[in-house]
Amino acid sequence: MTSRRKFIKAAGLFGGLTAMPLLSQGFSSNETSSLPDFGNASSDDELFAMVRQQLLIPTNRIYLNTGSLGPCPVHIIDAIHASTRQLEMNPVGENWGPLGNQTELVRKKVADFIHADVEEIVLTRNTTEGLNLIAQSLLLNEGDEIITTTLEHGGCEVGLNFLVKTQGVVLKKIELPLPGKSIEEIVRTIEKNITSKTKMLMLSHVNTITGLLMPFAEIAKSTKAKGIYLIADGAQAPGLTNVNVKELGVDAYAASGHKWIMGPKETGFLYVSKKFQDKIQPVFTFSGNTVYSASSGTRNVATIIGFGLAIDFHTSIGSDKIQQRTLQLRNYCLAELKKLGGLKIISPENRLLSTGIVSFSLDTVKNSDIFNKLKEQDIIVKLLSQQNGIRISCHMFISKQDIDQFVKALRLLL
Ligand SMILES: Cc1ncc(COP(=O)(O)O)c(C=O)c1O
Repeated sequence: MTSRRKFIKAAGLFGGLTAMPLLSQGFSSNETSSLPDFGNASSDDELFAMVRQQLLIPTNRIYLNTGSLGPCPVHIIDAIHASTRQLEMNPVGENWGPLGNQTELVRKKVADFIHADVEEIVLTRNTTEGLNLIAQSLLLNEGDEIITTTLEHGGCEVGLNFLVKTQGVVLKKIELPLPGKSIEEIVRTIEKNITSKTKMLMLSHVNTITGLLMPFAEIAKSTKAKGIYLIADGAQAPGLTNVNVKELGVDAYAASGHKWIMGPKETGFLYVSKKFQDKIQPVFTFSGNTVYSASSGTRNVATIIGFGLAIDFHTSIGSDKIQQRTLQLRNYCLAELKKLGGLKIISPENRLLSTGIVSFSLDTVKNSDIFNKLKEQDIIVKLLSQQNGIRISCHMFISKQDIDQFVKALRLLL
């Protein structure tokens, strides 16, 4: 915490940052912390060490579970706090005035971040909400088929089960090879299951269990030709891997801000392509896609502004640089894990299918025992119940030393 006191004040000094207008417009408090000047970093290792210093995670804790929730940098937490104070000084005047006006800029930031138009973006509270908006407002016919996989998250499945119950659609959960080997193998498996009744495909962009990067662009070639809706559960993707919704060819894409983007909790977005907007009519956007509308009701403007700052934070470091760093860490982690006996890697090895997530299942030891023993050493991982497995999130703020310490602890436990 003391080191961040040394950081330069954010406003005006963080070259080229689009965050600054938000900060400078919104700030009335002098209690705010500030961003490090990443331009001073002499190497990428130093840069990412500076990122680590921006987090409230204690230095002795190894946090390997960004896939569940990411840590929000402290300057953003302070900015949210300052916005909240500003809001509470004049609630109506600020909510439908200076602070509220900033939230619309966040929609634009999201749009730019995923290469969409601002009219295609709805700010939500999380991925589940975004996917539910679609499930609640899509009109299908009894007997229509939806294809998904056996490895999806409950937040995606709930909307699909809702469609089964309310509209009598048929849900086909296909099993993809574990670990996934090639793009061709995945596309072939999916195409084999498409029939004349298939109306929609719902797949994770980055799989929550394995970290597999779904080859959406290749899948979209089939779905587009056949008029099948292609929906992405992007909870694990933005902030970890570059997202370009146009290149992916998706009709809709839902994601959370509180995972790999490292934004405040209860932030997210839904992209709905202009073409697909006619197909769904959610009450939530009936009065417009704007952050505040008659149908969305009042929002937490401070949190939404914080979400915008988190996107700025990522953009300022560079999405390519972050993606490269997470892949390097993942490769290192994977190589170290492969030296151990007693476990099986379930994440793909193919570079084209890989992200900064490494998962493995345990041969004989119970994963909950390993999880608890690691937790005693302040090493935080994610349990994968059905695989008797463990998931490791290699975000940019993790160091090789962190991975060494985790692998060493695991080796002793195994
Ligand atoms: C693939 C996937 N979809 C959906 C969710 C749910 O995310 P949220 O709780 O932010 O809606 C998660 C959470 O881990 C996830 O991994």
